Amino acid sequence: MAEEEKVLIGVIGGSGLYHLDNLSFITHVNPETPWGHPSSPIAICALPSGKKVAFLARHGIGHTIAPSAVPARANLAALKSLGVKAILAFSAVGSLREEISPGSFILPAQIIDRSKGVRPASFFEGTSIVAHASFGDPFSKKFVSWLESRVRKALDGEGRGVKLFTDKCIICMEGPQFSTRAESLMYRQWGADLINMSVLPEAKLAREAELSYALVATSTDYDAWRPDEGTVTAAEVFRTLTQNADTSRHVAATILDEIHEAFAADGGDMLEEVGGMKLSIMPR
Ligand code: ADE
Repeated sequence: MAEEEKVLIGVIGGSGLYHLDNLSFITHVNPETPWGHPSSPIAICALPSGKKVAFLARHGIGHTIAPSAVPARANLAALKSLGVKAILAFSAVGSLREEISPGSFILPAQIIDRSKGVRPASFFEGTSIVAHASFGDPFSKKFVSWLESRVRKALDGEGRGVKLFTDKCIICMEGPQFSTRAESLMYRQWGADLINMSVLPEAKLAREAELSYALVATSTDYDAWRPDEGTVTAAEVFRTLTQNADTSRHVAATILDEIHEAFAADGGDMLEEVGGMKLSIMPR
């Protein structure tokens, strides 16, 4: 892609979030990567400032791709090929904590991987390159802490009473079935606060691709741990999904221009902590 067409910021929309607001649509692109095509054609749109942003629907525009089948390597490689440096990802999550009620927004800080071994989780798989990326802090700490006050302000401005939580731990599980009550209780004992099926391998691949990555998690249900309540159903998730997607669009519309500005202006500072991948490739 020509230099002037490069796009700094990519947004990945999860369940219910298939487009953004307050943007002027420019074109769709569908790059073929060594890992195939992305989940859906990527919409290139102009922000109110005229700067460009890329939007990708993780599960396809008509939600046709199950979490386990999302072509995450193609998604990340396609965004990177457009010039993207930072990814703001949205995802519906279940809550493992009473205070994180359905409708809450969360910027998580940690991940526990329960999808390991099932999904291709490295760009180096099948190659002769032995690479180990640092992943102790799986989200971009600077980006996440930069986001906190902006997302909070956007949510407060909404007047919907949407709560924002930070510093939480998310479990990424293998679907498509939701967890059993025993699993849900065990995850709470492990210290997890949220559960979803999509943050991995996306976050791992973003790290390998040296992209800043932050997740805006949107709570749809209480999973299966509450003793006097029914377990989570798809219908329950869908009920909250539409409202959460609406709020997510408002948040994105409020902060995207500023995110673009921050990454364009900072001369690499926001990206500092993800630049170590090259050093992690084993010397021969
Ligand atoms: N996504 C939304 N709610 C979920 C739950 N309870 N478990 C796994 N993924 C989810």
